[in-house]
Amino acid sequence: MQHKRRILTGITTSGTPHLGNYVGAIRPAIAASRKDDAESFYFLADYHALIKTGDPARVQRSTLEIAASWLACGLDPDKVFFYRQSDIPEIPELTWLLTCVTAKGLLNRAHAYKAAVDANVSGGDDPDAGVTAGLYMYPVLMAADILIFNANEVPVGRDQIQHIEMARDIGQRFNHLYGGDYFTLPEAKIEENVATLPGTDGRKMSKSYDNTIPLWLPANELKKAILGIVTDSRMPGEAKDADTSNIFAIYQAFATPAETAAMREAFAAGIGWGDAKQKLFERVDAELAPMREKYDALVANPVRIEELLHAGADKARARSRSFIEDLRRAAGIRRLTDVSAPVKAAAVAAAALPQFKRYREKDGKFYFKLEADDGTLLLQSHAFDAPQASGQVINALVDAGGDGDAVKALLSDAVAADEAAPSLDAIVSALAALKTDRLEREAQKAASQ
Ligand code: TRP
Repeated sequence: MQHKRRILTGITTSGTPHLGNYVGAIRPAIAASRKDDAESFYFLADYHALIKTGDPARVQRSTLEIAASWLACGLDPDKVFFYRQSDIPEIPELTWLLTCVTAKGLLNRAHAYKAAVDANVSGGDDPDAGVTAGLYMYPVLMAADILIFNANEVPVGRDQIQHIEMARDIGQRFNHLYGGDYFTLPEAKIEENVATLPGTDGRKMSKSYDNTIPLWLPANELKKAILGIVTDSRMPGEAKDADTSNIFAIYQAFATPAETAAMREAFAAGIGWGDAKQKLFERVDAELAPMREKYDALVANPVRIEELLHAGADKARARSRSFIEDLRRAAGIRRLTDVSAPVKAAAVAAAALPQFKRYREKDGKFYFKLEADDGTLLLQSHAFDAPQASGQVINALVDAGGDGDAVKALLSDAVAADEAAPSLDAIVSALAALKTDRLEREAQKAASQ
């Protein structure tokens, strides 16, 4: 059966939703979730929040507010997977499996970590001052979020592209090391036509600039916040440039094309800033007011939201529970009696390789023999006094690999004198196969380090 595309995104629960979150993430995600061509996974990234804040009340409050926001804005929890990260224990479990295949050097290059280190260095501090291992590991936790549900697409802002690339990298390493297509490699999806909203000071609306307008302000406070948006000093009657105005940009994000065109004309005709702000408030409030009522009711009923999140976690865990079993098994975390485990491709290949067998006879001496993949005896060694000596000869033979002359020279030192002359060609090709296998394993080991 052809799987539907899976779209997944997480929202860190460390703050209060603002207009920028609504326009840039919540609204487009909910619109996408209404289409039937894909499965949507939306979750509250509360473990990620712990990396950003040490304030437990804030994490809890933010989780409630963000869950209520998505529901108030029309997310249908029956149609999508809507859950809280910390309700899915398979995510932290996978985080460890992934941690063990993640190159430390990859994490050294993460923008957020590097920015923190750079700031320390330029401030004359220890490079890692104030940097937690949580911040360092952030990309691995995020990779686990994405890979546990084998998401195809991850809608995120540009600042998150590197994290998606790291998730691909980490997933690929796991697939390679354990020899299977365990993980789908996700792709970042940047919504080109979704506006990044300017904040009250004209820079991008963001909590880190302290320029946000909270999404669920009561109408009178929303109006006050909009009146407080910074504008230039042009007077009423002076023509204004719509394309450089943050008032216009926010208006456009809420208005229909016709409304936007009318506002553009009003700007050119010299609408006063006070009037423009009043129109902006009315437009934004018209969209938010009906949802605001729902939001207020939801936030006042945390029991209901808790229920919804648990139902969402049950639904999501129906996928993650069985998947983590496969992943654990792949990595060797499995029952000692488990013989049906998916076997690594390399191990399957090894079963079909020629084999050196080493043993000790009653005479106290050490011997080896080389058997073809079907068990045919190709080579029987003479007696060695010490196991190291036979080991060295085996190593040298594998090193010689497909080199017939080198093998021949070595054999004079390895083969029992009374042994019927073995077929040199068969030995040489067996040794060549063993050498290839050894090189492959060395390469794999190097790649996983
Ligand atoms: N790091 C994302 C952000 O800060 C939030 C997040 C956590 C996320 N896990 C995710 C986004 C998985 C997409 C997929 O915006």
